[in-house]
Amino acid sequence: MILNNITEAIGNTPMVYLNNTVDGIPAKVAAKVEYFNPGNSIKDRMALNMILKAEEEGKLKPGGTIIEGTSGNTGMGLALVAIARGYKCIFTTTDKQSKEKVDILRAVGAKVEVCPTAVAPEDPRSYYSRAQTLSEEIENSVYLNQYFNLANQEAHYMTTGPEIWKQTEGKITHLVVGVGTGGTISGTAKYLKEQNPDVKIIGVDTYGSTLKEYHETGKIDESAIYPYITEGIGEDIIPSNIDFSLIDKFVKVTDQDGALATRELAEREGMFVGYSCGSALCGVRQIKDELKETDLVVVVFHDHGSRYVGKVYNDDWLKEKNFI
Ligand SMILES: Cc1ncc(COP(=O)(O)O)c(C=O)c1O
Repeated sequence: MILNNITEAIGNTPMVYLNNTVDGIPAKVAAKVEYFNPGNSIKDRMALNMILKAEEEGKLKPGGTIIEGTSGNTGMGLALVAIARGYKCIFTTTDKQSKEKVDILRAVGAKVEVCPTAVAPEDPRSYYSRAQTLSEEIENSVYLNQYFNLANQEAHYMTTGPEIWKQTEGKITHLVVGVGTGGTISGTAKYLKEQNPDVKIIGVDTYGSTLKEYHETGKIDESAIYPYITEGIGEDIIPSNIDFSLIDKFVKVTDQDGALATRELAEREGMFVGYSCGSALCGVRQIKDELKETDLVVVVFHDHGSRYVGKVYNDDWLKEKNFI
């Protein structure tokens, strides 16, 4: 079969058992390896759906401009879909993201504005505010706003969830997922819980983010919020794409543990994955005492290691951060 354009290669990614990084975990653990998407991350799925929805709703017209605040992966997905469907892209991102991520977005034709990380979300310099302002200034543009656009979680309800259910032949017992916008965990969990309400859903958060505290107390804990290094997961806002009612519990992973586990996945499983994948593996390790031999844990690996060669995959960087 020959596909009509690159967007038709999105989804239907493989699942692979982890063999050498799951010592002491009684259950089988299988990874949904999302770097097989054409943009090398899971975010291709929601990028496509957000654009299709914006077209349907008349918000995106031929030749229009797509604006988004993105740490890179969503931008890549949007850029690929934009090329296939004839749109321009402007992305705002933070100065904490890998330089590689920004270079890659520029390579696929997007304009990228880098904004400071260490400002509050409502600050006019934040990457959220800049995206909003640009969308007001530029004619025939749409700000897709992945945090609050429910086409994000819907993409996972329509694709990621059904794929995992089918690939595991309905045997999945636990889903472990890093949470950023919440699209992946909420859409996938909704589908899986509809098939079997007993599937346990575990969100992986970082230290420096308030998602775990919010899940437990219903309040944003300002003292839990501080800058951290892990990319793609954790938030200082509460996105409407996170359906907290579907999540059984959150675990928190340190920047160091996530980074070292990422290296283990590359060295011991042959999976050259991104930083949040190491954090997700640590999430599985944290729940090991709750697991039985007959359980099947699915862990979602969001993206590819190529975007982190100057960071997690660089020993000097690990030393500089005191991680080794
Ligand atoms: C590398 C990485 N991991 C995890 C996530 C979290 O996924 P979601 O936004 O669907 O919660 C993202 C999202 O930006 C990501 O880029």
